[in-house]
Amino acid sequence: MCGIVGYTGTQNAAPILLEGLKKLEYRGYDSAGIAVMDAGSISVNKVKGRIANLCERTDDGSSVSGTTGIGHTRWATHGAPTEENAHPHLSNDGRFAIVHNGIIENYMNLREELISDGYVFQSETDTEVIVHLLEMYYRGNVRDALIRTANRLSGSYALGVICSEEPGRIYAVREKSPLILGLGMGENFFASDVTALVNHTRNVIYLEDGEFAELTPEEIRVFDVTGRELIKTPSRILWDVQAAEKGGYEHFMLKEIMEQPAAVKATIAPRIRDGAVVFEELRDVGELISGVRKIIITACGSAYYAGCAGKYALEKLTRIPVEVVLASELRYSDPLIDSETLLIVISQSGETADTIAAMKECSQRGARTLAVVNVVGSTVATLADYTVYTWAGPEIAVATTKGYTTQVAVLYMLSVCFARALGRIGEEEKMLTEELQQLPRLIQQAIDLNPSIPLLAKKYHASKALFFIGRNTDYAVALEGALKMKEISYLHAEAYAAGELKHGTIALIEEHQPVVALCCNPDIMEKTLSNIVEVKSRGAEVLALTFRNNQKILSVADDLLFIPAVSALFSAVPEIVPLQLLAYHVAKENGCDIDKPKNLAKSVTVE
Ligand code: AGP
Repeated sequence: MCGIVGYTGTQNAAPILLEGLKKLEYRGYDSAGIAVMDAGSISVNKVKGRIANLCERTDDGSSVSGTTGIGHTRWATHGAPTEENAHPHLSNDGRFAIVHNGIIENYMNLREELISDGYVFQSETDTEVIVHLLEMYYRGNVRDALIRTANRLSGSYALGVICSEEPGRIYAVREKSPLILGLGMGENFFASDVTALVNHTRNVIYLEDGEFAELTPEEIRVFDVTGRELIKTPSRILWDVQAAEKGGYEHFMLKEIMEQPAAVKATIAPRIRDGAVVFEELRDVGELISGVRKIIITACGSAYYAGCAGKYALEKLTRIPVEVVLASELRYSDPLIDSETLLIVISQSGETADTIAAMKECSQRGARTLAVVNVVGSTVATLADYTVYTWAGPEIAVATTKGYTTQVAVLYMLSVCFARALGRIGEEEKMLTEELQQLPRLIQQAIDLNPSIPLLAKKYHASKALFFIGRNTDYAVALEGALKMKEISYLHAEAYAAGELKHGTIALIEEHQPVVALCCNPDIMEKTLSNIVEVKSRGAEVLALTFRNNQKILSVADDLLFIPAVSALFSAVPEIVPLQLLAYHVAKENGCDIDKPKNLAKSVTVE
């Protein structure tokens, strides 16, 4: 899980590579490096830690000369985060330098073979085998050497390669790891993410698995594994450059929380026409959903919790049974799937390794696949039979916020759309779409109703642990609320179905134990109220999340968070917002690195 960039042109390459790496730092940030080619020789600069250290080492790139280069920011998998293990890696003869994102699964065997052939390894990484294979297969033609090398590799890789014999030329290869080529004027680029390209060009080519690219300042050529040249059609990136920047907020996470009214509007508004939900990308919805006997939702992390929240509306409106299964569990569970199963795959990045693997597994067993994805052209989006984009815009903070709310919004819309196609709703669709259209406004109100969150964060930030409780849809939101708290503030936070407390967890409740109680579902409010009373009587401090006029809850809670009135069917979207803000302010109180929490990366492209 790393970020890679490449540049060839007439400008000094190093500052451009460093700027690109800064944009990709969210993909990994334990070490970084660049390799730049100048007058037939390659110079490598690598550091442990953040890109800032590399900028310091190279005077922001000005101390490195050369107009062709590759760069890497790393999140360690094989080998500790050290300077030796940082990329780029060099071949023993100094002819090749490479950067790699992904994992080489057969590297142990290859390493043994190469060592017995006399190659000397400088690092513990899986990547280093690739550069020695290149040296071994090189007979004066880099493309041939790359194809022969790729034939030996199992696993996932996006590679950037330079060779001192070919000044001005960079190579890029993709296999199960994202890689995008940027077309400039007299200069060309590659990167593992468009964020690193938008400052230079909006014209891009998405490489596909098994494709190789050769970039010079003048042209980009793409080949398949047999060496046959392919005609690729460039796409245009429509994202605003500013959209990928912080826009005046202290952290990307806060910016992205505040963007949610606009993001959810972008998800919903274009898909509601004349009181009906319309997904043009699903073509014939009747054909898609008729004959479906079971829906399985699969995803990881917050995307999985989005599935948990969406399940209620899907089941209620379609009356089709819905299971929500973690992708890392589903793929090894010998799942009961056939052609009457619809698999809904949720992923912000579209590159999560477990999610992709679960999707492939279910697809092989005959399921139809529908992806709910944010990143256009990502692997999940490409593999699915049907793809619905969330249109949330780029999400930079590791902790997802607008990614989650837009995913839930899409599930709500799918519920309505499927229910109509199945004939389970008629006139009600108009009322449901009106409620969906209110969601952006309700998110804004959920932000505005809670000015006291920074103060509450001061009260709760030093707690040893926080429990989040709720029932039904409130429980689904509690799961995501607790994850937000854990991942950015490092507080121990757990979500429990409120009715489960008395089966064990209540033993942990003691004097002043904070309990965040979610009470936004009128159908089961009374039951949650009983659970609040139970924990209160054991000394808990209760922070309740509910409606402003909910007198019963107001009278028992110690502190309050509010959401505006919303139908229980669609409540998760505004309901999560105060919990995102609470996690943000607690993390800020605790001095945490909010956008890049320790041990985490934005896109988890390893199993
Ligand atoms: C959420 O805040 C996390 N960073 C993480 O759980 C994330 O949702 C998960 O890794 C799935 O990512 P995806 O949506 O890109 O597939």
